[in-house]
Amino acid sequence: MPHPIPCAAALAVAALFATPAVQAQDAGQLNVICSVQAEWCNMIQTVFTKTTGVKVNMSLKGSGEALAQLIAERANPKTDVWFGGTGDPHLQAAEQGLSLDYKSPSLPQLHAWAQQQAEQSKFRTVGIYSGPLGFGYNTELIAKKKLPIPKTWADLLNPAFKGEIQVANPASSGTAYTMVATLVQLMGEEKAFEYMKALHRNISQYTRSGTGPIKAAARGETTVSISFVHDGPGEAMQGFPIATITPADGTGAEIGSMSLIDGARNLANAKRFYDWALTAGAQEMGAAAKQFQLPSNKAAKVDPRVPDFKKIKFIPYDYAKYGSSTERKRLIARWEKDVNSLPR
Ligand code: G6P
Repeated sequence: MPHPIPCAAALAVAALFATPAVQAQDAGQLNVICSVQAEWCNMIQTVFTKTTGVKVNMSLKGSGEALAQLIAERANPKTDVWFGGTGDPHLQAAEQGLSLDYKSPSLPQLHAWAQQQAEQSKFRTVGIYSGPLGFGYNTELIAKKKLPIPKTWADLLNPAFKGEIQVANPASSGTAYTMVATLVQLMGEEKAFEYMKALHRNISQYTRSGTGPIKAAARGETTVSISFVHDGPGEAMQGFPIATITPADGTGAEIGSMSLIDGARNLANAKRFYDWALTAGAQEMGAAAKQFQLPSNKAAKVDPRVPDFKKIKFIPYDYAKYGSSTERKRLIARWEKDVNSLPR
């Protein structure tokens, strides 16, 4: 996954939150799987530890990989909290009883879509952010190769894009599963699979991580990516020639989520982290770490680089259906068989 730790930024934010009371005492530990980019994971780790004295052991995993790990360690859970990543696999974890029901006192501070994610899962997960799916493109490469800026899903099928597009693998990446589920809802399942088979001819690589493709586009290793558009500004801020666009014919959005794990060994610390992660102050760390999702806490400041949802054509994404384990497993298996196994 992502890029290295911005120590200075993390420590600056940590200093704001530090309280003198908690320095030396042993407040125990907490095991977190983190499915956003490293910079944000590292920042919350540093700040939470500074504020509470709790030692946070953080492991970074894509959304699909995180779910696979939780399933594998079910008999002997080693994780206390799963922070971030797309909502569909969090809903699947809830359905499979991998997560614990918990109503945080911070819940009423959240937007309706985030509370709905909690209600839908019988309070076994909760929305922490949202962001739209779209395309990233390298502005220099697209001009140099005289390629058109893709404006619709159909535009990506243009033979001129052969070998020019990257997207992640939906088994490991929640971003890519959001694409599969979005296309199925937008076109109907048969047409969506015909579309993905045709798109396959233009794909150079299915990456493990959802952010792999936009990072590759930013660095000129591919021209176009299918990505969450809130991952664009962070790359542009590093000086890369990257722009994003959402398809004019409609797109889906993720509800990035957080879950407490059933059997958590450090439950009190897990709840403390969970309540904290829902506060406006903690959520503003996303933008401080150059990640521009829309925060779920209504009081959190919205950075101007967060995509403007009012300007985007959204499909009414059915989170309950596409987060159910039968549907998610079935669509991923069908994608493996009908799309990924085809020659290019
Ligand atoms: C990035 C995005 C998040 C998203 C996550 C999913 O970190 O900024 O909004 O939830 O990717 O990662 P994945 O590797 O599962 O696609």
